Amino acid sequence: MAEVRPPAALPVQPVLFAAAPTTPLRVGVLVSGRGSNLAALLAACQAGTLPATVVLVVCNHSGAGALDIAAAHGVPAVVIPRAGHPTRATQQAAMRAALDEQPVDLVVCAGFDRILEPDFCAHYAGRLINVHPSLLPAFGGGLHAIADALSYGVRVTGVSVHFVTDEIDGGPIILQEAVPVLPDDTPASLAPRLHAVEHRLLPEAVRLFAEGRLRVEGRRVIIS
Ligand code: GRF
Repeated sequence: MAEVRPPAALPVQPVLFAAAPTTPLRVGVLVSGRGSNLAALLAACQAGTLPATVVLVVCNHSGAGALDIAAAHGVPAVVIPRAGHPTRATQQAAMRAALDEQPVDLVVCAGFDRILEPDFCAHYAGRLINVHPSLLPAFGGGLHAIADALSYGVRVTGVSVHFVTDEIDGGPIILQEAVPVLPDDTPASLAPRLHAVEHRLLPEAVRLFAEGRLRVEGRRVIIS
């Protein structure tokens, strides 16, 4: 049976976006896998519906499909594998150095498969967001949210886009959308419906951020 975490402990430290973002917003994207959310962000930038530029892709696995997507769009990408560093903290310090060299206004985790260190989260507090394939706080904290929701037997799951804090998948929620679970769903049949929602919700959350319309009060994100 899937492990279900209790609701996040209250209160979390408020994260505030104080500085005005530049226009277009300079975005760094963290990826590990196929990169369909990266592709959705790049498509929205190209279509002119997202006032942002992806200035750097940071990947922790050489050979990830996301790197091909970055290359196809002419977006600079850097591979910073865990194996090349003595600790996860030093790996993430290298990621941070690469992002800050650009610099970036916002860091988007688009399928990054490792826990971010507290130092990394603190450095980008209020300008670090993640997309997760469940309605948080349900089925957070792991890489198997879709299968876990099915195993649990929920009739509705969904997608969350949230600010990242050092509580895993526990930061203030920016956007959520429900997706019904169908009687015969398998992870393979449910995943594409969730991904389709992710590809809409993540660019939408970045657009709200770029337009300076997100304010965090405690656990709540106020959208103006
Ligand atoms: C997405 O389902 C995202 O929610 C999760 O990892 C997956 C990444 O997919 N965090 P992709 O690499 O963007 O295609």
